[in-house]
Amino acid sequence: MKNCDVVILGAGAAGLFCAGTAVQRGRRVVVLDHAQKLGEKIRISGGGRCNFTNLASGTDRFISKNPRFAASALARFTPADFVALVDRAGIAWHEKTLGQLFCDGSARQIIDLLLQRMAGADLMLETGFSTVERLDEGFRIETTAGRLTARSVVVATGGKSIPKIGATGVGYRLAEQFGLRLVATRPALVPLTFAEQDLHMVRPLSGIGLPARVSCRGAAFEDALLFTHRGLSGPAILQISSYWREGDDLRVDLCPVQNIGTALRQARDGAGRQTVATVLRQFLPGRLAEAIVDEQGLDGARLADMSNARLAALAQRVNRWSVRPVGSEGYRTAEVTLGGVDTRDLDARTMQALNVPGLYFIGEVVDVTGWLGGYNFQWAWASGDAAGRAV
Ligand code: FDA
Repeated sequence: MKNCDVVILGAGAAGLFCAGTAVQRGRRVVVLDHAQKLGEKIRISGGGRCNFTNLASGTDRFISKNPRFAASALARFTPADFVALVDRAGIAWHEKTLGQLFCDGSARQIIDLLLQRMAGADLMLETGFSTVERLDEGFRIETTAGRLTARSVVVATGGKSIPKIGATGVGYRLAEQFGLRLVATRPALVPLTFAEQDLHMVRPLSGIGLPARVSCRGAAFEDALLFTHRGLSGPAILQISSYWREGDDLRVDLCPVQNIGTALRQARDGAGRQTVATVLRQFLPGRLAEAIVDEQGLDGARLADMSNARLAALAQRVNRWSVRPVGSEGYRTAEVTLGGVDTRDLDARTMQALNVPGLYFIGEVVDVTGWLGGYNFQWAWASGDAAGRAV
């Protein structure tokens, strides 16, 4: 049996960061993870370059039943604080767009930074656990490598996304065991899928990407959109997937920089012998322009022969395409999990369960989910730091 101050369940972004903060406060820390390698999501993140934070990490970039909950932790450990660590470690980085910071080199550098920061902690990989029990003082954890006792337990086991690299949802079961409430979970930052009747149009376009504006339920994102053989993906779609619900239509503007109705009318007035397809190709990828013209039965049609109403219908198809996904690609490819441990049962300053002293929940297992763009790691660092300062 091993006795320590803190057992952290999960060696992902939040768990490793929490370990570093706790070790630096002189705590004896054990971090366990059932996976063979730690920080796998960090390694594959940002296309291998890890979008490790976002300069604009305000609470408006996070989805939660209580949007104010994250404010305290985010204010006490900011993107600038993480950048300072990255700079001190000599890791070169760049801002890609919209405040998103990426490593110039490999995401592995961030994992090394986290490991160095937590030097002195006991890391137990390929170690699962079966039970976490509360004692008069502290907790007893039965692991596949023996029994641990600790004054504090930090649950950092992440969400359900990408089970192939270790996600289990065990954190939700622990929360329930200790009487914490859960907000229903669902895959987020995930490609959306279409029914067969819509697929016949988009499938041949698979691989085409373009800038678009996508909106749903009052949220709107302008970014790249990608046609796939199952529906739509790309950053704009991943973002809106966190807001979309079954039965909702998406409103997609396939050419946000141009009112296509105006462009078509001007082209008809100037050079009416042009085909519709010729004009659309100036604003859309060629194959997409042709597919829309085909779908509207306008193959070979000349502008001069088209009424205002016909042009308006075509423009609507481009600037105000309304389409209803039937589902998403699910946890298999979702970058994050919406919902989780209800923040009403956690202390926003420390991440401690309000009714279970010594038990903490951090990172993705909590009902705080960031937009795409480095926000989810910033939440992992900030919530991990908050708990690390308290354990
Ligand atoms: P995380 O999932 O990182 O860690 C949980 C750990 O717990 C894992 O190591 C797992 O093995 C372990 N575990 C689970 N069940 C267990 C059990 N029963 N026993 C023991 N251990 C267990 N975010 C961002 O800000 N910028 C980015 O660039 C990206 N990119 C990105 C790409 C891809 C492909 C994905 C899937 C996700 C991203 N994200 C991201 C999201 C980001 O990776 C995610 O929000 C954080 O990793 C969450 O950190 P956590 O530590 O909470 O969970």
